[in-house]
Amino acid sequence: MTDSRVIIALDFQTKEETFAFLDQFGDEKLYLKVGMEAYYGQGQEVVEEILRRGHSLFLDLKCHDIPNTVKQAMRQLAKLGVDMINVHASGGKAMMKAAIEGLEEGKTKDKRPLCIAVTCLTSLDQDVLDHELMIHEPLNEVVLKWATNAKEAGLDGVVCSPLESSIIHEKLGQDFLTVTPGIRLADDSKDDQKRVTTPAMARELTSSYIVVGRTITKAQDPLATYRRVLAEFQG
Ligand code: C5P
Repeated sequence: MTDSRVIIALDFQTKEETFAFLDQFGDEKLYLKVGMEAYYGQGQEVVEEILRRGHSLFLDLKCHDIPNTVKQAMRQLAKLGVDMINVHASGGKAMMKAAIEGLEEGKTKDKRPLCIAVTCLTSLDQDVLDHELMIHEPLNEVVLKWATNAKEAGLDGVVCSPLESSIIHEKLGQDFLTVTPGIRLADDSKDDQKRVTTPAMARELTSSYIVVGRTITKAQDPLATYRRVLAEFQG
């Protein structure tokens, strides 16, 4: 377990890469994110080994299906003992409520894993909403409405851009978590992220947790870079 609110995205293809990366952190307890790439490629073993080493884990599988299927999937995943998990808000409130029920049934600790919703993927823009998905409301209103649905369904927060964090906290309360990717240090490359924010800006914009991938995983010195990100975010 860790109190860290900097979540490192472990986007590696193989177990060897994942654990060679983690070995550089010595005994430091981290908050890590395993997403589809690592989970589908490396299986449950990667999750089990990370938890065995005492790290906290956000399992980023973005589940989306009919309510009963999501409930049963969440029940299975909660048994792993992860700390945070997510679903797509576009699956609707009944699906999100079912996710919470599944997590309650499968939990291995006193508290169920935190459950957060993906609102509109950051790869979608207004043009895609209008012309492909036939959603004609402004994108930021869709994000806010879907975040409201997530809160009403009993979820703990959303994945969003740091730029959306303040408005979500203003409308839905400071306790509703905003977990925000798209983070870069001021001297970094942006890679494929379009809108990026520094850890210090994310703090000012009220992000509850930041998700940081390549800035740390591709750094010359990942431990020193992690400490720099942490110090900037904690202020
Ligand atoms: O390397 P980078 O810091 O860009 O990685 C960000 C992580 O956050 C990746 O694992 C990516 O899949 C995830 N993510 C994102 N944007 C979203 C949702 C998740 O970058 N809207």
